[in-house]
Amino acid sequence: MKKENIYILGIESSCDDTSAAVLCNDKVLSNVVAGQDIHAEYGGVVPELASRAHQQNIVPVVDQALKKAGITKGQLSAVAFTRGPGLMGSLLVGTSFAKSLAYGLNIPLIDVNHMQGHILAHFIAEENYAKPQFPFLAITISGGHTQIVKVSNYFDMEVLGETIDDAIGEAYDKSGKVLGLGYPAGPEIDRRAQLGNPKAYKFTKPKVKGLNFSFSGLKTSILYFVQREVKANPNFIEENLNDICASIQYTVIGIVMDKLKLAVKQTGISRIAIGGGVSANSGIRNALQEAKQKFGWTPYLPKLEYTTDNAAMIAIVGYLKYLENDFSDFDVMATSRLKI
Ligand code: KG4
Ligand code: ZN
Repeated sequence: MKKENIYILGIESSCDDTSAAVLCNDKVLSNVVAGQDIHAEYGGVVPELASRAHQQNIVPVVDQALKKAGITKGQLSAVAFTRGPGLMGSLLVGTSFAKSLAYGLNIPLIDVNHMQGHILAHFIAEENYAKPQFPFLAITISGGHTQIVKVSNYFDMEVLGETIDDAIGEAYDKSGKVLGLGYPAGPEIDRRAQLGNPKAYKFTKPKVKGLNFSFSGLKTSILYFVQREVKANPNFIEENLNDICASIQYTVIGIVMDKLKLAVKQTGISRIAIGGGVSANSGIRNALQEAKQKFGWTPYLPKLEYTTDNAAMIAIVGYLKYLENDFSDFDVMATSRLKI
């Protein structure tokens, strides 16, 4: 007997991207993301502006996702949405919309943990992409998160370590601000890093025990370093920008790789899956590819579309929960500090 197709609409609105995606089983039919340029002029996400933009974008984005997928609302099997973690005002827009739609269509509602979405995005069916085998380690690195998670099964996850202050993307973005780069600065630092000398300047790595991270000290040491050098030479930044970027990137990659080595040692697991916007970073990708040769690790580097905030990763969690009949009550609330 042929199995019935399951169509999941995923909705993501935890930070500054409004996204909707339609999956047929584990295949993506559409994944529409509306970013919000408005935050660039403020040098960071402004929560109040983000929720207003979600309110404006949510209906057209969902509409476009359904059209691109070539299906109607009536064909949907369930609506999955990001419950948290994230900005409360932003989460409320997606949550309320998802509830209303599922209620109106009389179909199941499925709440999704955004961090599980980043991890389970690796289970989206893609040509030439081998899904990770359990158990594996997931490292989620973005503007909002930095976590190492042991994944024993789809919904059996344990956070082994996380940042105790800034996220890794914030370290990039805040260092970029000090250097006069636009927001977000991660991609520009990465581009320049490839043109500079990674050992030109030395920044000390934070000393955090175990598998936790800290990035606020690094940001401060970069700030003091730049202030000192600019005092001696007002053109210091322009004259050495590529080298500064390369040195920052070298330090950040060192921090990430040290923690991953420790995690592999502690768990005996060497399958490493990455997620989050910073996983676009060329240095981190190269370091993981090198680790494949050097240490025999198996890295999983998915398409960038599924690593930055997007609704396909929410819909795949929705699909996996649907298979287990794990549905939400309609009184489910957005939760800004939701844990894995
Ligand atoms: O996942 P994402 O799109 O949004 C969230 O923060 O949840 O990640 C955005 C972050 C920003 O901090 C941005 O600077 C960083 O990812 N980023 C990068 C690169 N591309 C994006 N950081 C370093 N290197 C990159 N190539
Ligand atoms: Zn995210």
